[in-house]
Amino acid sequence: MSPTYYITTPIYYVNDKPHIGHAYTSLACDVMARFKRLDGYDVMFVTGTDEHGQKVEKASLAADLDPQSFTNIVSQNFWDLACLMGFSQDDFIRTTETRHIAAAQSLWCLLRNNGHIYLDYYEGWYSINDETFYSEADVKNLAGQHIAPTGAIVERVKNPSYFFDLSRWQEKLLAFYEANPNFIAPESRRNEVIGFVKGGLRDLSISRTNFKWGIPVPDDEKHVMYVWLDALTNYITAVDFPKVTSKYTQYWPADLHIIGKDILRFHAVYWPAFLMGAGLEPPKRVFAHGWWTNDGKKISKSIGNVIDPIALIRTYGLDPVRYYLMRDVPFGSDGHFLEPSIIKRMTSDLSNDIGNLIQRVLSMVAKNFASTVPIPGKFTSEDIALLASANALLVVVRRHFDNQAFHKGLEEIFYVIKYANKYVDDHAPWALRKSDYERMATVLYTLVETIRYIAVLLQPIMPTSCAKMLDQLAVPVNARSFNQLATKCRLVPGTRLPKPESIFPRWVEPRGVLDID
Ligand code: ME8
Ligand code: MG
Repeated sequence: MSPTYYITTPIYYVNDKPHIGHAYTSLACDVMARFKRLDGYDVMFVTGTDEHGQKVEKASLAADLDPQSFTNIVSQNFWDLACLMGFSQDDFIRTTETRHIAAAQSLWCLLRNNGHIYLDYYEGWYSINDETFYSEADVKNLAGQHIAPTGAIVERVKNPSYFFDLSRWQEKLLAFYEANPNFIAPESRRNEVIGFVKGGLRDLSISRTNFKWGIPVPDDEKHVMYVWLDALTNYITAVDFPKVTSKYTQYWPADLHIIGKDILRFHAVYWPAFLMGAGLEPPKRVFAHGWWTNDGKKISKSIGNVIDPIALIRTYGLDPVRYYLMRDVPFGSDGHFLEPSIIKRMTSDLSNDIGNLIQRVLSMVAKNFASTVPIPGKFTSEDIALLASANALLVVVRRHFDNQAFHKGLEEIFYVIKYANKYVDDHAPWALRKSDYERMATVLYTLVETIRYIAVLLQPIMPTSCAKMLDQLAVPVNARSFNQLATKCRLVPGTRLPKPESIFPRWVEPRGVLDID
């Protein structure tokens, strides 16, 4: 049986339309899921939408819809984006689904039965106008009137609330981080979390009575669950919790939650504490990536500087956008979103490096070998060196991808692409046609076989373009996984090849509507 691999995206709030930040996290998960499938794993990749809570209730009111109709519409936008981006998710969770409500209520009951939940009061500054609690630091006292940053009047309220005994989890969490050094990545984020937990934890309010749009607390329907307890549960809803099915036993604990750094505390502190409290296993790893910024500010709907992924794909094509997002900024760091950088990557990496390599090699093969894989003669040490560098890629790229260092994996692959281009220049196969036909065949065979490696390895990042590349090499669809990256699976000399086609065309500035000649 194949080893399993369970990977998740955050489930996105439906108060927003999807933007490039959401597309980015899901893309990273898709790349990881595709990589693992090609590497022989039985993968489950889950994404979805987070549909409860006061924010969503408010957004639906503003749109003059009931919350369920509103969430149906916005959730669809996330589903459409997943289709457009070519994501390969196996499941799409919506927290308003019955299976999820059952899972969240079961988790609650486990926590309650294990003695981790108690009823008390939640006290704070509340604005009826904003329907929001404000922290002490946010509230200003203006001549006896207490005012929120929005200008709204706040009042001291005391509402009944259930609490989770988070304060009792400090030592257990620190021991868990210690025993599982790869649980939080990157390293800097791990240190941040450890520092936070060492600073002491307070019990967590996990229910609300001031709004209705949430999952009812079992046996006390005046309360709805705090949206984060509800949302985090999606990761086990997707594996059939509370039923202990074969799906549950095979996939849980999850191998990787990829998230943005904004929601690290929920995933690295609350989530393992909830799970341990319920007697369930915490996930194996949480990777928090950085933020895309625009004009120096985090890209977000509330700031109003969003980048629309749909427009980008329309302009540049899907694979170039996927490549840019995974290549330009080290995964884990913040990055400035710059459209000119997409064009730069398309020109230098995609057209000049890989596109040019394929184009040169395949057109020479078509012209000089009647569109068949050339029959090589004896390999020289230089041929063997190029093939060996392609051969060595899998192990290196796998190591980088297992650390979510996608940019480094890509750098290694492009190093071999550049090497192959230099080999073409050095060996000038076009000049061998008359002088040494067999040598020409050997050089071109070495190159097509190198291209096969590159095309197989780049599939997780650029699935469509790589499928075309592999079609051009007549590699059967069932011979494109990483176990085919072995010497015994080399291209068979004499195999017929289809007519070469350009795969990474040069970027051409679109003409404006007025620019007609
Ligand atoms: O937080 N750069 O949902 P959300 C990079 N529902 N990534 C970004 C980004 C940016 N500028 N902006 C958003 C929630 N993201 C909860 C999650 S999970 C159990 C519940 C991505 O719609 C990034 O992954 O606010 C971030 O963590 C996520 O969108 C937040 O999405
Ligand atoms: Mg957010």
